[in-house]
Amino acid sequence: SSMSPPPPSSSTTTPTSHFIGKKEDIVKAGRVTKLVNGCRDVLVLHHQGQLHAMDVRCYHAGGALQHGDIEEFNGRLCIVCPWHKYKITLEEGEGLYQAVDDPTVRPLRTYWRSKGVKQRIHKVTEVNGGVYVTLNDSSEVIESDTYQTERYRTGLKAQ
Ligand code: FES
Repeated sequence: SSMSPPPPSSSTTTPTSHFIGKKEDIVKAGRVTKLVNGCRDVLVLHHQGQLHAMDVRCYHAGGALQHGDIEEFNGRLCIVCPWHKYKITLEEGEGLYQAVDDPTVRPLRTYWRSKGVKQRIHKVTEVNGGVYVTLNDSSEVIESDTYQTERYRTGLKAQ
């Protein structure tokens, strides 16, 4: 919508990686949240040997994804938002939903479908035991951008 804030770092041309923490600490904790570059609250998580990073607040209504379970749907790992159980793929930030093929047929047959990319995913790199995030500065508006404004950041800190 026209109310969406600009994507992060859109004014810079060289992407910068930001230190998040030591890998051993992140592996031990499983997840960490961090304000990156003073402008973006990012969730970094370690699951099945892989690191992932995404906007911490759910694209649907700002839910706290750091408290979500990780489950596999249709062969894709997702974080399940603790607020209304929306499923978001870890790799792409796609919103998945279950669709019914034909509601008149019993038993109902359901399929997992994608709503497209809804959550901004960021790049994670490991260098010498450190974990770094490079913000995804694609100029495409992604729904989770809505919850990265100053207003929502301040709200998170006050909780
Ligand atoms: Fe995440 Fe509603 S806020 S599912």
